[in-house]
Amino acid sequence: MRLLVTGGAGFIGANFVHQTVTTRPGVQVTVLDKLTYAGNRSSLDPIADRIEFVHGDIADAALVERLVGGVDAVVHFAAESHNDNSLADPWPFVQTNIVGTYSLLQAVRKHQVRYHHISTDEVYGDLELDDPSAFTEATPYNPSSPYSASKASSDMLVRAWVRSFGVRATISNCSNNYGPYQHVEKFIPRQITNLIDGVRPRLYGSGHQVRDWIHVDDHNSAVWEILERGRIGRTYLIGAQGERDNKSVVQLILEAFGRPADDFDHVTDRPGHDLRYAIDSSLLRTELGWTPRYSDFRTGLAATVQWYRDNENWWRPQKAATENAYAAAGEKVL
Ligand code: NAD
Ligand code: DAU
Repeated sequence: MRLLVTGGAGFIGANFVHQTVTTRPGVQVTVLDKLTYAGNRSSLDPIADRIEFVHGDIADAALVERLVGGVDAVVHFAAESHNDNSLADPWPFVQTNIVGTYSLLQAVRKHQVRYHHISTDEVYGDLELDDPSAFTEATPYNPSSPYSASKASSDMLVRAWVRSFGVRATISNCSNNYGPYQHVEKFIPRQITNLIDGVRPRLYGSGHQVRDWIHVDDHNSAVWEILERGRIGRTYLIGAQGERDNKSVVQLILEAFGRPADDFDHVTDRPGHDLRYAIDSSLLRTELGWTPRYSDFRTGLAATVQWYRDNENWWRPQKAATENAYAAAGEKVL
């Protein structure tokens, strides 16, 4: 199989490419990545001689059409992915997440290439903290932020290209990922690298918000199941029953550093902050037989802490600029 992976220099895409060359050595991988602030070519260094890398934009229709014409399938990870950035400047989210997806859809339509679209549980909005229910494939879309609205828009384009043009596409909506190679702007790597630098972790607002954590390798094994055996036109939710509130995640990270459980700061809350996400992944489990491998969050988190300790060269160049951006956006200790 010849596979085009967009966003393969980002967090989940890079882990997907690593997993693919390891578990499916017969697959020829081409990565298309714009190398925005979030893309890091060095994430692919250990496997650089086993893949082709193309530096370019998914919204570049001519480039995309040429690349898609030479493959059997596309897995589309590339996106602007950070909610806080979408509040500061929504435009890149509209351009990459909506126009970029349009450009890929037109190319897979023309060349009749199988397409898998990576999306997020945030398209469903949020749940109340005391609501016992979870998102399913039937939950109505109700996005809150410019980021999640742009992802919801891109999902709708995919559904329309399936129905109107017969594109052979599947969609997956996954919950919050953790693991190696995640940018230090995101919650878990930010707190780990703060602690390495002797800075207290920073919780937005109350810290009672809940996210449903999944190890990135489990997300990517599910993507492979869907790509190989998923039903065309279907949406699959991916989640590993990893619900935790933000405060308890910070306390587990503090524990890994041998620090007291109250050694953190509350800072300015995110505007429109979603309260709780929770995934019901029954369809994926029953129809495709997928199960996650990382059932113990504490163990997976400890391994992630160790990865950031061992790979300071990878994250250090982004750390100061990331913290400066948070300060410039007005983040203050409460
Ligand atoms: P990321 O920000 O770490 O990586 C995004 C990658 O896309 C970067 O390498 C960047 O250079 C590239 N990119 C951005 N704009 C581009 C463009 N116009 N053309 C080509 N490449 C471009 O993101 P991530 O966390 O790895 O997320 C990957 C995908 O998974 C996204 O679609 C995101 O919505 C989705 N997702 C993420 C999570 C999560 O927890 N991180 C959960 C569910 C779904
Ligand atoms: O649910 C899937 C989504 O998960 C993906 O679609 C997004 O691409 C991904 O970024 C993630 O979105 P979140 O907004 O949930 O992730 P983030 O890491 O930014 O924040 C996780 C939680 O932690 C959220 O409730 C905000 C909070 N937070 C975040 C930061 C950076 C803090 O309390 N302190 C922080 O410093």
